[in-house]
Amino acid sequence: MPGPLLDTLKGSIPDIPPLWLMRQAGRYLPEYRELRKEKGGFLELVYDSEAAAEITVQPIRRFGFDGAILFSDILIVPHAMGQGLEFLAGEGPKLSPTLLEARLDDFTASHDKFDAIYETVRRTRAFIDDKVTMLGFAGSPWTVATYMIAGQGSKDQGPARLMAYRDPQRLQAICDAIIEVSVEYLRGQIDAGAEGVQLFDSWAGSLAPDEFERWVIAPNAAITAALKQSHPDTPVIGFPKGAGAKLPAYVGETGVDAVGLDETLDPVWANGALPEGLPVQGNLDPLLVEAGGPALPARIEAIKRAFEGRPHIFNLGHGIGQFTPIEHVEQLLRAVRGS
Ligand code: CP3
Repeated sequence: MPGPLLDTLKGSIPDIPPLWLMRQAGRYLPEYRELRKEKGGFLELVYDSEAAAEITVQPIRRFGFDGAILFSDILIVPHAMGQGLEFLAGEGPKLSPTLLEARLDDFTASHDKFDAIYETVRRTRAFIDDKVTMLGFAGSPWTVATYMIAGQGSKDQGPARLMAYRDPQRLQAICDAIIEVSVEYLRGQIDAGAEGVQLFDSWAGSLAPDEFERWVIAPNAAITAALKQSHPDTPVIGFPKGAGAKLPAYVGETGVDAVGLDETLDPVWANGALPEGLPVQGNLDPLLVEAGGPALPARIEAIKRAFEGRPHIFNLGHGIGQFTPIEHVEQLLRAVRGS
């Protein structure tokens, strides 16, 4: 029996939108912080399937969300491609050597790193209720490439954008390699029990229009087409953060089954601009959830109203922040479910 989230991804229009939150497992939860302290670092958690499955389930247990998103990270793909990866406390990810200092051919790939992730999916799927939808994910090639090239998060993704202009063939080869590995990785997640997958293109918004076509639309279309060939019944959610007015082209040209909307989009505009019946997800500002107060239920109501008559999954416009009070998430749940 599929649950309401999967039904909505497949086009049903629910009375009450099903919900999950991007980054719903993580540092705003005391039970996550406790387990992280016990196990050491973030990567130790990701590659420990028992711990990762427990963390995936934590927000379901606490809040009863309709979806469980695999606890992992988009940078596991570069790690399996052979790039060094560390998460330093308070500093974010560090990949080394960068793709400015080295070439992909210098790396030794180890796709067996994915086995622990597949095991996390299997364990979680076996543990959660049938009605909770198991979601897998990968980073989209452009977003993953920005980290591989700069070796870390970068202001305006400058190093990757410069490579796109100076040496597009080199960036193309990097994106092609990421596409190939990501398709294998997402197929593995689906075979292990993921019922839908999301492609996170967190830095899609930094590209000029022609560049957006080449580095956002084309790679997401390639991954979606490959998954449609092998797993035609598994919905693909695209999340091109910052796409703005390029959103309808993204949807039309990638073939994704559903689209995530960031907080900058006017939901009334998005509803009018997107094809009828296309499932949408989003677009509550995570900082409004952190702030709380009467503006929170008012905004939630406005988003629900904008998407009445369309398959709509309630979610945020980006990941939930680590300083979000638990009570504000509870307030959000009451407002979405009208309870
Ligand atoms: O949504 C979920 O709950 C599933 C798990 C998940 C994580 N990262 C766990 C995580 C998912 C889907 C991601 C995606 C991800 N990772 C993205 C795309 C979405 C987005 O937020 O834009 C990106 C760009 C990354 C790369 C990444 N991972 C960065 C830049 C950082 C450091 C900044 C930060 O928020 O700490 C991470 C670390 C990370 N990934 C944490 C978690 C729970 C925090 C690790 C910790 O210190 O405990």
